[in-house]
Amino acid sequence: MKSFSVTEKGVYTSRIVCRRNVLHSALPQALGGRKAFVFSDERVWGLYGKRVLRALGEGNVHTMPAGEAHKTPETLFSLLAAMAQAGMHRSDVLVCLGGGVVGDVGGLAAALYMRGIACIQVPTTLLAQVDSSVGGKTAVDFCGIKNLVGAFHQPALVLADPAFFKTLPAREVRCGLGEIVKHAALSAPLFDKLEANAERLTDLAFLADIVPENIAFKADVVRRDAREAGLRKCLNLGHTTAHAYELLDGTLSHGEYVLIGTYIEAEIAAARGGDAEYLARLRALCRAVLGTFPSLPAAADAARVACLDKKNTRQGRVVLTVPFRRGEFRLMELSAGEYEGELSRIGRTL
Ligand SMILES: NC(=O)c1ccc[n+]([C@@H]2O[C@H](COP(=O)([O-])OP(=O)(O)OC[C@H]3O[C@@H](n4cnc5c(N)ncnc54)[C@H](O)[C@@H]3O)[C@@H](O)[C@H]2O)c1
Ligand SMILES: [Zn+2]
Repeated sequence: MKSFSVTEKGVYTSRIVCRRNVLHSALPQALGGRKAFVFSDERVWGLYGKRVLRALGEGNVHTMPAGEAHKTPETLFSLLAAMAQAGMHRSDVLVCLGGGVVGDVGGLAAALYMRGIACIQVPTTLLAQVDSSVGGKTAVDFCGIKNLVGAFHQPALVLADPAFFKTLPAREVRCGLGEIVKHAALSAPLFDKLEANAERLTDLAFLADIVPENIAFKADVVRRDAREAGLRKCLNLGHTTAHAYELLDGTLSHGEYVLIGTYIEAEIAAARGGDAEYLARLRALCRAVLGTFPSLPAAADAARVACLDKKNTRQGRVVLTVPFRRGEFRLMELSAGEYEGELSRIGRTL
């Protein structure tokens, strides 16, 4: 068992525990007799619901259809209605069992219900364990914009169990690896570990081994900058390009777009004084996880969409958080034209 904590100065402390057998021992123990309301998606509930009910005995449950398309205000309000109908009290606990979608919607419901109740995150995807369950960002998509409506609400506890990966489709593993490679681009020890294990990145034993290090890395960033005033922006590495392609294309998983974004932004950094040898190694890591590169939307379209990114400070400029040297990132601002030129140049080399 490994344990970390995130303290948002004077606001909240969140405990993160990597532990096997969460459904049978850790969860009932963590509840300590408090009433639990479980929120999950239909797929995860189909796989693990019986075990949850066996472990918790009686309890209220609400499920949503699986997938990002349902990360909506409607899903949020139907969860809030179910919580109200169950007579959930301020001292009760909302348990979110699922991937990042369940965690984000459930986390927001916990932030809103009676102005904030305790939430326990039980992340079941690799992405949710290493990224979305840690840090207290919660949201739903609104008006066609991802995560437009949300709140910061640190979970009281995160219970991460690698046993959930046994049922995870290969594609979801690759998705989580996208964020893990992003962490490696920011943390030299993680980079060394991934590079040394490039042949077995999808092995369940290896994943179980690196999850705690990834959680510790993200928890440390959040501990130092919970509200994304500065340092936490490093976690946007590769994401400007990733989001542009994700919005335009949408056929791959978020993590796969993060791998593409990290690859392309590593090339951009190499052309602007970054450590070329290291950045080539980082790109090789992205390729090792991604496999063959998909064909990408036109550079002009990607540049146009990237200009609309909420990270941008000035019109017609694109802000990128790029890998630069081993364990080091830089913020770079390019004009839309420069960025489009880079996407075209790099696109021809893929
Ligand atoms: N809050 C944050 O800081 C943060 C950070 C990164 C991503 N996110 C959000 O996370 C979401 C993506 O999360 P995700 O990748 O976990 O997607 P997801 O929640 O949609 O889960 C992916 C799929 O895997 C299934 N699944 C989950 N666990 C499973 C298991 N153990 N076995 C088999 N199938 C399983 C789900 O039912 C779903 O179909 C996005 O909405 C993104 O915006 C949030
Ligand atoms: Zn991401």
